[in-house]
Amino acid sequence: MRAQGKRRLRGSNTKAPSSAHSTTAANLIPPSPTLAALQMGARNCKACDLFRNATQTVFGEGPAPARVMFVGEQPGDSEDKTGHPFVGPAGKLLDQALVEVGIDRSDVFVTNVVKHFKWVAAQRGKRRIHKKPRQSEIEACRPWLDAELQVVRPEVLVCLGASAAQALLGKDFRVTRERGVLMKSHLAPYVLATTHPASILRAPDIRAREQQRREFVRDLGKVADLINARRGSAA
Ligand code: URA
Ligand code: SF4
Repeated sequence: MRAQGKRRLRGSNTKAPSSAHSTTAANLIPPSPTLAALQMGARNCKACDLFRNATQTVFGEGPAPARVMFVGEQPGDSEDKTGHPFVGPAGKLLDQALVEVGIDRSDVFVTNVVKHFKWVAAQRGKRRIHKKPRQSEIEACRPWLDAELQVVRPEVLVCLGASAAQALLGKDFRVTRERGVLMKSHLAPYVLATTHPASILRAPDIRAREQQRREFVRDLGKVADLINARRGSAA
């Protein structure tokens, strides 16, 4: 449909589109997608309402193919402003952990289950507080994530936190119970779930934070061991 036709259609509508619609991004995915085509296509996605309050789409970034793909929940405040995933405090923590376990950042693709920042204004001040995406929003955005998986074809898929783990591994998945376990999967040769780095940053005190950070690094260490072993056997 031509852009002009669309505009006329919208203009003739007196009511705003309902937020209860069940559209997804499926019809925006090109047939043989490349990463560049996906990134470009996602810029104008309006398949759910999350685009309305966000600055821009934050698509996944990294090489395609990549050895490891990390999936978080959604872009945060810094990501929304810059347009890049995992560049804020949680991303810094992730980067540090990757250095510690010896995973090269150039082997890594990072993305989120939804590509727009969902937030509410803080009661006081200008802070924008992250709000959990709804199931319908996660489902609307899923075609982008599936297309990323298709082009990135990671050896290991790492779910960061419950939203990513439940979207990819099922709603009964419990990160607290099943974290750090490398599992075979149809999504990638191996899948592992761990805590979200943002939740580590929300730990109540320094000791708790250090403890959680160690557990996070331990989980990523398993990913490092696996890709190093696979690299060894492929050589
Ligand atoms: N948290 C996420 O889940 N994703 C980001 O990109 C940044 C913070
Ligand atoms: Fe599209 Fe995903 Fe953004 Fe919703 S969150 S508008 S589905 S890119």
